[in-house]
Amino acid sequence: MASSQMRFDGRVVLITGAGGGLGRQYALAFAERGASVVVNDLGSSPDGSGHSLLAADKVVNEIQAKGGKAVADYHSVEEGEKLVQTAVNAFGRIDILVNNAGILRDRSFSRISKEDWDSIYRVHLHGSFLVTRAAWPYMKKQNYGRIIMTSSGAGLYGNFGQANYSAAKMGLLGLSNTLAIEGQKYNITSNTIAPLAGSRLTQNVMPPDLVESLKPEYVAPLVLYLCHESCTDTGGIFEVAAGWISKLRWERTAGAILKKRNKSMTIEDVRDNWEKICNFDESTHPDSLQDHISLMMDILQQTNCSDTSVVMKEAESSPQNGINVELAKSFSAQSSVLTYDHSHVILYALAVGISTKEPDHLKFLFEGNEDFCALPTFCIIPAQKAVFEVLGDSIPGLEVDLVKVLHGEQYMEIFQPIPTSGELTSVAKIADILDKGFGAAVLINVETFNKKKEKIAFNQFNILLMGSGNFGGLRSSPAEKPIIRIPNREPDMSIQQTTSVDQAAMYRLCGDYNPLHIDPNFAALGGHPKPILHGLCSLGFAVRHVMKNYADNDPTLVNSIKVRFSKPFSPGHTLKTEMWKGNEGIHFQCQVVETGKTCLSGGFVRLASSASPLRSSITKQATSKNLLSDQVFEQLARKLQGQLDVKQKINAVFLWNITQNGEQVSQWTLDLTPEGGGIYPGQPHVKPAQCILSMEDKDIIDLKTGKLNPEMAFISGQLKITGKSMNDNTASNSSSFSPFELSLFQMLFLFLFSLSSNNHKKISNNPKKKESREFLFKLR
Ligand code: NAI
Repeated sequence: MASSQMRFDGRVVLITGAGGGLGRQYALAFAERGASVVVNDLGSSPDGSGHSLLAADKVVNEIQAKGGKAVADYHSVEEGEKLVQTAVNAFGRIDILVNNAGILRDRSFSRISKEDWDSIYRVHLHGSFLVTRAAWPYMKKQNYGRIIMTSSGAGLYGNFGQANYSAAKMGLLGLSNTLAIEGQKYNITSNTIAPLAGSRLTQNVMPPDLVESLKPEYVAPLVLYLCHESCTDTGGIFEVAAGWISKLRWERTAGAILKKRNKSMTIEDVRDNWEKICNFDESTHPDSLQDHISLMMDILQQTNCSDTSVVMKEAESSPQNGINVELAKSFSAQSSVLTYDHSHVILYALAVGISTKEPDHLKFLFEGNEDFCALPTFCIIPAQKAVFEVLGDSIPGLEVDLVKVLHGEQYMEIFQPIPTSGELTSVAKIADILDKGFGAAVLINVETFNKKKEKIAFNQFNILLMGSGNFGGLRSSPAEKPIIRIPNREPDMSIQQTTSVDQAAMYRLCGDYNPLHIDPNFAALGGHPKPILHGLCSLGFAVRHVMKNYADNDPTLVNSIKVRFSKPFSPGHTLKTEMWKGNEGIHFQCQVVETGKTCLSGGFVRLASSASPLRSSITKQATSKNLLSDQVFEQLARKLQGQLDVKQKINAVFLWNITQNGEQVSQWTLDLTPEGGGIYPGQPHVKPAQCILSMEDKDIIDLKTGKLNPEMAFISGQLKITGKSMNDNTASNSSSFSPFELSLFQMLFLFLFSLSSNNHKKISNNPKKKESREFLFKLR
């Protein structure tokens, strides 16, 4: 159909060695579809000797005779710039380059001369390099280019008598692979073909009927397709012949890890594992250097060795690569302060995929919600600010080239619920620098404190400085928070969630403004076809998935998190979190559904267990007596988390005696002082209670649901208040409280009013309670 015909009108194509064989077919096909063609050919014999204008002229005449546009160029590809100049002089630009020129100097390896080697290298590999290098600036400038390299089956698989040719042809694949990466930023693609066709190069090695049937016409459609503007595939290698086209890729066996902890590795280990090393049963298909590095990280983690035969001496005395571990560790960074309010906490929640679609998510999105709280992964926000400041600093003993920095792994531990507003101070320290060979892994520990200097969270960033390895440092460190391997079985559960195309654009507003996540040009510099999502954003999604499935969506149950960032993730793609229940928490890993690649690996969320004082004591008491008031105070405890303002306003300690039929059955402390421990069962831990409130268990529920007004409860005697006067330190009864103390109780009751969301409606209709509600909102 003419309407869907793929055209090249306005495009300028340079084809090297287009005077015959495959090149001629390409030239005719491009011209037929509207391209302006530069037909380059030196007019040499198959071994590269001689020179003639005829070859190129003949093809140009053929094209022009059919009404096409073409000019001849007679230079050798060894004069790359002159070929490109011909295109620019004739047509003003160059859009497509097909590196096709070729010769043969076949000799068995024992007979091959240096000249045989050099001449093949000069035409194939060096020639393709020179012409491409000349065309590159034009393509870059116009932000468009299509490049083809011509390899060969002899290069991919080897062929008797073609050592020189095979080496050059395989070199072209390496050249193309790297151009594909470097060209991404400029919309320049580079692909490689390994054709088979009847031509003068093959007529002496193939029977005549085969030469006849393997027509060059069968190769041209693939070359044209790869060079069309609609095709953005890059870095591919294709076999093409006889009307058949296929794509090739690398395949890697699962291999065998021979290095054992504290043991050296021997030649016999290799012999004994040879079958495993070569077994393709569980093979994978690596397609990038990042794949390779990520695997090496895994292996290093497993072989983590500390024996002196493998581990080299400390970097102290070997400051190569600008790294001196001890000096860097002694660096003390300025503390970093993050001041924020509820909007920052909500923005973070939205940025990691929280939505109002799910009703139990409102507590992360609405500052007026009674359970409003921050996600546990929010603790990364103050910590990353500190790390950016450290990396931006000049650290003695550590030279950081930000372009070569990769975020390798992350560990976070949460000690207290993250406040929903306020000021957090983070202190970053270089804990160690590990020598991973391909790079240096910088472990940066960050401790985050609230205003009272209580530790809220600990983060460990594992930052990879690519190319800074082999400095003579240790491979592992006791300071390193290790990856915990996922169980070797099918996941117990998985969740999928599609991210928004603007996910990274939103997440960056939380504080990571690296242009890699928003600017296509910057992303292309790093070899990414488009901006990638922050690894920490996908981590936020994954931890939410774990929390939702295994922790009742309760952030206070998340103790610590560890993960490795294995592969980039594109905004708009779907994240699949696979989860396994373990003894102490949940293992997880995440895949990109669209590509099947694992983007987060070795994930683990340690959940609060008996190790959590708040949680365990609540559970213990609630299960032992099964009191209604326990539920009320537990909910109140969660509500208080992060609400520093409330503590500052109330600034007093209350002890509640809970009774059943007049008999005391439990006690709860409400330590509402800024430095206090919050709400917990039992007697106060820090300061003595300033007043004691007694109430029947069943009445507390009425108080919570709004059935019972606290003032009425007090007047009717359902609520008893005794305590010490704060002024004279003497025992008082309820009738002798100072106005200040009475206002304190009022605040406490107002606070209690907000326990039930059902109350909001009722309160708004009652003028007195409306006032209370306004007061509460002021507190938030
Ligand atoms: P061909 O010999 O018909 O065409 C090659 C053209 O390159 C010739 O016209 C020659 O004059 C020109 N040339 C040689 N040296 C040059 C130089 N220094 N500068 C400019 N032009 C030069 O061969 P064929 O078969 O069309 O091969 C095209 C490409 O495909 C070659 O790179 C070849 O190695 C490759 N190839 C071909 C296969 C086949 O089955 N025909 C198999 C695998 C690869």
